Amino acid sequence: MTTEWNQLVEGLPRWLEASRAYTAQGSVAAYIPELAHAPAGALGITIMDGASGVARAGEADLPFTLQSISKVFTLLLALMDNGEDGVFAKVGMEPTGDNFNSMLKLELVDPGIPFNPLINAGAIAISSLIHGATPAEKTERILAFFRELAGDHSLACNEDVYRSETQTAHRNRSLAYFLKANGVLDADVEEVLEVYFKHCSIEANCRQLARMALVLAHDGTDPESGRELVPRRYVRIAKSFMITCGMYNESGAFAIRVGLPAKSGVSGGILALVPGRYGIGVVGPALNAKGNSTAGVHLLQTLSAEFDWSIF
Ligand code: DON
Repeated sequence: MTTEWNQLVEGLPRWLEASRAYTAQGSVAAYIPELAHAPAGALGITIMDGASGVARAGEADLPFTLQSISKVFTLLLALMDNGEDGVFAKVGMEPTGDNFNSMLKLELVDPGIPFNPLINAGAIAISSLIHGATPAEKTERILAFFRELAGDHSLACNEDVYRSETQTAHRNRSLAYFLKANGVLDADVEEVLEVYFKHCSIEANCRQLARMALVLAHDGTDPESGRELVPRRYVRIAKSFMITCGMYNESGAFAIRVGLPAKSGVSGGILALVPGRYGIGVVGPALNAKGNSTAGVHLLQTLSAEFDWSIF
């Protein structure tokens, strides 16, 4: 065990409790009604290193739906299914500076493809690229892929959150029909949305999230078996998007203050990684105006400063 790891294990509960105060500055997402039940004052973290070390603090066992964090992994599966040319015919490589559910830029550019795969429009386009004969088959393939990365075959969709989102997703529906009109979606719109809502509703805890992050930290290799689960080139693409777009239109500030590839979701989860070293899973359901966990971002900022983790 390194000195840093010992300091991390020892200091984590203290740093977590200091960041917990920031939960009071945010509020739980309510536009998906089922998410409003999440405990606003909760904060949990798990950090995994490649040598089976696990550091945790706070409500690390709290289950939460992956929401936008899932977009990193559907992107990877879409790249594995279609290659780079297939994926980048349907989504761009640039941040938007707009909200994650914005439709503004879809009409400002030609061709009207989403700017990147991590905004809602881009992730909906990515869902349409996942191979499978039916939405159920595509969802099963996504689940199998996520389970392998999480090292846990119990990962499943939260059907209540899925139903809640599908019944209220008027904005995502309009985005998707807009994409259909622009020729971005070949498949039936409702079938594409079913796959998208299902992968957003896959439920995990901080440990499972940290394990998924650890595979990315090791360039796609399973840290236990040494097996390549994702080609390194595709992990590099995903990490680049995490830096430029992973925290939505707060990605620039996060790069300056934390400096790690990361992806947030409206359930309050954040997946982050220290390249070659750690996988990190955080949950703190109270969000700031950009949709990122207030206390989760603060905790990552503290740890990055303490251990000089910024990649820049
Ligand atoms: O489509 C949505 O609005 C959600 N299923 C996911 C959005 C999300 O997590 C954005 N995160 N910050």
